[in-house]
Amino acid sequence: MDSAREGEAPEAAPLTRVVVRAPAKLNLQLAVGPLGQDGFHPLATVFHAVSLFDEVVAERRAEGGGPVVTVVGEGLADVPLDSSNLAWRAAEALAGEFGAAPDVALTIRKGIPVAGGMAGGSADAAAALVSCARLWGLSADRADLLRVAARLGSDVPFPLLGGTAVGTGRGDRLTPALTSGSFHWVFALSEQGLSTPAVYRRFDELNAGRQVAAPTVDERVMTAVRSGDVRALAAALSNDLQPAALSLRPALQGLLDIGADAGALAGLVSGSGPTVAFLVGDADAAMNLTVALSTSGMCRAVRYAEGPAPGARVVEAA
Ligand code: C5P
Repeated sequence: MDSAREGEAPEAAPLTRVVVRAPAKLNLQLAVGPLGQDGFHPLATVFHAVSLFDEVVAERRAEGGGPVVTVVGEGLADVPLDSSNLAWRAAEALAGEFGAAPDVALTIRKGIPVAGGMAGGSADAAAALVSCARLWGLSADRADLLRVAARLGSDVPFPLLGGTAVGTGRGDRLTPALTSGSFHWVFALSEQGLSTPAVYRRFDELNAGRQVAAPTVDERVMTAVRSGDVRALAAALSNDLQPAALSLRPALQGLLDIGADAGALAGLVSGSGPTVAFLVGDADAAMNLTVALSTSGMCRAVRYAEGPAPGARVVEAA
């Protein structure tokens, strides 16, 4: 007998494999307030997703036993494969929230520089949330995923949204921003990562004895992205963590100097670093800067990207 009732579409076979792509980010503005009782700093930040992507392939594990993680791409040695991997934790947290079995094989294809201050681990977690929700057929909406994401880390909600967005609280409370056009970015990657907690600690040390103001969003940044005005954006970019990152890694100043000499409109440390981001006027300027940075011998690699880029989305489901 046909199992589909009359008038109803036959039930689709359960998915066995879902591929989700999620973007890297930089902070166009990162305003940091005083250390709170909870061990976190209140932020006012403007996230901007760029066209460097990680992909997460989620596949059913009929044998059970919880999540397993495999990583392919660059910087593999620095990505954990156990429960300290954010994508693994994302799968477990989502399963816990919806009463699903967390049995999934996650393959992370890295396109985002590892340990770079571009939130690659957070992109993987966001991609894992979207792929597992689809694979397991959960009735999780965007708000559910954003809630689980915020528990995993301050930077995890943003790659779900992508585009450009204001982040407040720990950076996890998001409001999408209007933008026009696209911006061209060049990223200089460093040999060694920088620890986010260590950069925040240095921020506290550098500001010891001073009154740190409550962070506010810079309207100049918002106006620049809304009008697509690259020169106005260049003048408005800011990162309160930059002095701390430069103090821990003085060589980053050399990269900023190369960018200024090679015609970048602006340069700044991306998030807590050590990646340095440069805003350029067009793809030709990006090429000139890429050559200057690559031949300097001062960075591990150079990447070009455009922003804003879309948030985590399914690119394959079977
Ligand atoms: O949330 P996430 O795991 O990225 O934070 C890592 C660490 O960075 C925190 O434990 C905290 O020390 C520091 N942090 C902070 N204020 C924030 C975000 C992160 O002090 N808003």
